[in-house]
Amino acid sequence: MKGIILAGGSGTRLYPLTLSVSKQMLPVYDKPMIYYPLSTLLLAGIKDILIIATPQHMAGFEQLLGDGNQLGISLSYKVQEEPRGLAEAYILAEDFLSGDSSMLILGDNIFHAANLQGVLRKAVAENVGATVFAYPVDDPGSFGIIEFDALGRAVSIEEKPAEPKSRYAIPGLYICDAHAPEIAAQVKPSARGELEITSVLQAYLDQDRLSVVPFGRGTIWLDTGSYANLLDAANFVQLIQKRSGSMVSAIEEVAYNESYINAEQLRRLAEPLIKTSYGDYLLKLVAADRQEANMGA
Ligand code: TTP
Repeated sequence: MKGIILAGGSGTRLYPLTLSVSKQMLPVYDKPMIYYPLSTLLLAGIKDILIIATPQHMAGFEQLLGDGNQLGISLSYKVQEEPRGLAEAYILAEDFLSGDSSMLILGDNIFHAANLQGVLRKAVAENVGATVFAYPVDDPGSFGIIEFDALGRAVSIEEKPAEPKSRYAIPGLYICDAHAPEIAAQVKPSARGELEITSVLQAYLDQDRLSVVPFGRGTIWLDTGSYANLLDAANFVQLIQKRSGSMVSAIEEVAYNESYINAEQLRRLAEPLIKTSYGDYLLKLVAADRQEANMGA
């Protein structure tokens, strides 16, 4: 399975912040926003990832993350000329996927949970057709809403329904089999002129091949598309990190835990960050493991 991060869009709800900077490059407390979706894909066990961005912001992402080799992963890049909608990701990613299945994540979505890794890996392993996640919200009229049966099979999907059939929103994280590009190619633009991801999901639902995994109570899903949400996300990350002593979505830590990089490589990634609590944290991980190794020897 391959990964796609959709990091384009116009970010109009964050103007003037996003007049010259990509939304996904804005800080969420101590790291650029794109670190969060990237770490989610890494936790799912995915290490071959395509980043889709606008022509004007592409260079910044390439400068920040390079080819991924420093993290022991592979990163590729593809320009989306205009924000034509989320479903266009599958069309743009067709060559990259080359017949593989995919996990697509929106670049402004943050997920955090103690057991996230297990939940994601199980969903990837069990996917037949497409899988979405479900997250209970208080204002279902503002989201794509999914109704599902006791077996986790989708019954209906509705975009911002006036009379919601459930209170489960679909977060910006989608698993699709190899057919997604050909399905997306058939999608017609919606009334707002976008290729909607719900149209792709509806096609899987019509074939009875759409599964739903409800996120448990301990899962936090944040999207950072407005001023208040961006600040909430930063405050959340700061609080969790301060109280737990662990970092949220430090890509270097995830790569290290996955054994994509070794302690020496982690130390080298930490070095330029040495004046920060981020760099300090990464160096402590190296030191703790060295100590453990010495004790074991
Ligand atoms: P949105 O938040 O729906 O759109 P946006 O980022 O353009 O923001 P705004 O509504 O404030 O103008 O997009 C969700 C995510 O998907 C976000 O990370 C940007 C990304 N995206 C693309 O990469 N390409 C697209 O065509 C669209 C519509 C969104």
